Amino acid sequence: MARSVLVSGGCGFLGSHLVDRLLRRDDVEKLVVVDNLWTGTKDNTAHIVDPRFSLQIVDAESFSASDRFDEIIHLASPASPVWYMREPTRTIRANIGGALNLLSLLRPGGRFCFTSTSEVYGDPLVSPQPENYRGSVDCTGPRSSYDESKRCTEALLFEQQRVGDLDVRVVRLFNTYGPRTRIDDGRAVSNFVSQALTTGILTVYGDGSQSRSWGYVDDIVEGLERFFWRDSISHRGPLNIGNNHEVSVLETARFISSLVPGSRIEHHPPTPQDPTNRCPDLTMARRVLPGWEARTGYQDGIARTLEWFRRQIASKQ
Ligand SMILES: NC(=O)c1ccc[n+]([C@@H]2O[C@H](COP(=O)([O-])OP(=O)(O)OC[C@H]3O[C@@H](n4cnc5c(N)ncnc54)[C@H](O)[C@@H]3O)[C@@H](O)[C@H]2O)c1
Repeated sequence: MARSVLVSGGCGFLGSHLVDRLLRRDDVEKLVVVDNLWTGTKDNTAHIVDPRFSLQIVDAESFSASDRFDEIIHLASPASPVWYMREPTRTIRANIGGALNLLSLLRPGGRFCFTSTSEVYGDPLVSPQPENYRGSVDCTGPRSSYDESKRCTEALLFEQQRVGDLDVRVVRLFNTYGPRTRIDDGRAVSNFVSQALTTGILTVYGDGSQSRSWGYVDDIVEGLERFFWRDSISHRGPLNIGNNHEVSVLETARFISSLVPGSRIEHHPPTPQDPTNRCPDLTMARRVLPGWEARTGYQDGIARTLEWFRRQIASKQ
């Protein structure tokens, strides 16, 4: 059956990779990307030559259309603390307002997919974090616009499913990195890589002992693809998707610095409420998505990302 699909945030880092994969599907007859280019760029979809694809430059919370969609994938939201902490109201509007508006564009019985985040676990008191861990989030803290709007959107979708005819798929993504991140994105891996290649000074906030589990984009988008568009899956989420190999931020910076001779690390004061650890419990993901695994090691993924950033920087000179 021919399907029409809407992706909000499709000009962003993850969204643009997902769009590439959607266009490989024979059953997709129309693919509309809704993006206001806040943190995304048109460059991320500039390579697409496909009559099924169109881009609407507009806020997800105000986009309107006469047709209804069979599948909606809602990614519109900054993911970098630098960007969402700068404009918290806009972040809340993108997540919750975007979901409320896009739900009205779903055809009855359609599927609504949402990228929530490991940030719903806050500064976790258990490690690794399973989906049934309720988290440790400060609802008035500096990260709350992001954490709480993701939590509220999860609530909206699961409650709509409980009372209505809605097929939801909700993932909680852990830190993902790779090509097509902005140079000024501000998240740790992209920051270290772009700093190493430009100023040569990698800024580590705090002592760098905080841990992260870096997922390479191809692995993570493969997980999204399997979960979001396989009809045979009955689990609706939330589902952790990430790499469960934990690495300290300092070790990551040291590795990146070792790839760029002459670069060095500088410590800056810690950022407020930076989680001390992050590691997905993937028991559920292995059950729901048999055979899927985030296989790319951080050394390999970072080396590929560094090469992409190197080419980007060279092309802009
Ligand atoms: N990358 C990660 O590590 C990660 C981790 C957890 C969750 N996520 C989630 O995945 C999604 C995509 O993340 P990303 O890393 O690609 O981020 P990104 O910032 O690269 O992409 C977000 C996209 O959404 C667009 N956007 C923002 N607000 C919008 C609005 N109101 N209307 C229309 N478009 C809007 C931006 O312009 C951008 O193209 C986000 O929902 C994010 O919260 C990402």
